[in-house]
Amino acid sequence: MQVGIIGKGTLGGALAQALDARPHAPAVISTTRASAHENRALVRESEVVLLCVKPHDLPNVVREIAPDLRPEHVLISTAAGVRADELRAWSDERARIVRAMPNTPARVGRAMTAIARTPACDRGAIEVARALFDDVGTTVVLDERLMDAVTAVSGCGPAYAFLFIEAMIDGALALGIAYDDARVLVAQTLLGSAQMLLASDRHPGELRHEVATPGGRTIRGLLKLEEHAVRGAIAAAVIAAGS
Ligand SMILES: NC(=O)c1ccc[n+]([C@@H]2O[C@H](COP(=O)([O-])OP(=O)(O)OC[C@H]3O[C@@H](n4cnc5c(N)ncnc54)[C@H](OP(=O)(O)O)[C@@H]3O)[C@@H](O)[C@H]2O)c1
Repeated sequence: MQVGIIGKGTLGGALAQALDARPHAPAVISTTRASAHENRALVRESEVVLLCVKPHDLPNVVREIAPDLRPEHVLISTAAGVRADELRAWSDERARIVRAMPNTPARVGRAMTAIARTPACDRGAIEVARALFDDVGTTVVLDERLMDAVTAVSGCGPAYAFLFIEAMIDGALALGIAYDDARVLVAQTLLGSAQMLLASDRHPGELRHEVATPGGRTIRGLLKLEEHAVRGAIAAAVIAAGS
């Protein structure tokens, strides 16, 4: 299945890299602003079109490609805050619309993608999109009313994770660990913890308490985080991004 990406920037580039790595799949074709004059040809050559331009560029891009859309096309928008019914209107209802929210870990085949379930999207198109995103990570299908919340959690989430990683590396540096060692120690610890959580049905609080032995160092570190209201700050950041 030929995939075309309009907007090969941060997210489009990450998806292109991951989709290109699939065995036996046709090479992904893509455009940027500089090659926008090729958008209509890209649509004609593709069965699935991924829209990865900024939300404010989206209405014009969709209206521009609308004449080349066919009912078989699956047109997937990754734009934050843009509803499926808006996409349908801009495209004159000429293609099967899907609204999705992937994230940049797609670059290493570890995207978390949420696909919107909405009356504006047919089930077959959602399944095509799900299969595509499953190739570059993990996919869930949720009600469209949750898409802004999902954006705040998994779309923005890598930025929060990188900030946490930076902060832990800073702490490691202050304790005398070289950056290259600290980078691996921190990243692998977060990766392993996330994998451990997904492999069990236990609450993260339970897993946290397992590490915090009485009188030990972990509980002193955890209490310092509570003193600085880190838990509330992280929850507030997610709520701010989703509101
Ligand atoms: N970044 C993320 O982590 C992330 C996560 C989830 C969803 N998203 C969504 O993904 C979309 C893109 O975000 P981004 O961060 O990847 O932005 P970006 O890095 O600015 O990429 C947008 C790309 O679209 C190109 N472009 C603009 N107008 C175009 C046109 N008419 N035809 C073809 N290409 C065009 C831009 O080219 P120029 O660079 O030349 O302007 C750029 O390469 C947004 O709608 C965002 O909501 C992003």
